[in-house]
Amino acid sequence: MQIRSARHDDAEQACEVVRRSITELCHADHRGDAPTLALWLANKTPDNMRRWIDQHCGFVATDGAAIVGIAVLKRTGEIILNYVSPDARFHGVSEALIARLEACACEHGIETVTLQSSATAIRFYLSTGYHSLGPPTQGFGVTLCHPMAKRLGEVLPLGAPHASNFEPATPL
Ligand SMILES: CC(C)(COP(=O)(O)OP(=O)(O)OC[C@H]1O[C@@H](n2cnc3c(N)ncnc32)[C@H](O)[C@@H]1OP(=O)(O)O)[C@@H](O)C(=O)NCCC(=O)NCCS
Repeated sequence: MQIRSARHDDAEQACEVVRRSITELCHADHRGDAPTLALWLANKTPDNMRRWIDQHCGFVATDGAAIVGIAVLKRTGEIILNYVSPDARFHGVSEALIARLEACACEHGIETVTLQSSATAIRFYLSTGYHSLGPPTQGFGVTLCHPMAKRLGEVLPLGAPHASNFEPATPL
């Protein structure tokens, strides 16, 4: 598995990874509720993926020619996408992608990385040093978004004030 910058022509394959990841891995979130899945998937299109890749800092994980994961960071420090292919789950893909996004954040002088976790990924983010920023908010349909953050370069003590650059995010 390799990590590289996302390219415009990755959009179709990356979009398919995201759609499969949501549908097949995020049952704890959508609970098989069809309207919820429809809402969640509605903006996961190749065109939007191209826009996110063009406008933000995106990386893909590859296995040969196949894209097995994609993660995208905004310049505000917010991770707006982090999805792994069901074919590559629990093989270090998300860990490697998040590490690359954090390195990218450091390179851009971003001190704190924020995200809205799915229920599915909370355990993963806790194990990679993220902490909760408070109660969940409404996501797509029956889903909840769990606000989390990690201050780069140091470990925050429990109960420490959260990032000054945190902005409420749109669930993606
Ligand atoms: C949970 C998820 C994000 C982890 O990504 P991954 O690439 O499969 O995981 P990695 O191999 O990089 O990391 C393994 C870590 O996942 C976590 N993990 C292991 N088993 C897990 C499980 N059953 N459920 C949740 N997390 C688990 C652990 O923290 C593990 O680290 P450890 O082995 O040191 O304990 C991914 O499997 C997933 O389900 N993604 C669905 C899409 C999603 O929710 N994305 C986040 C949007 S905010």
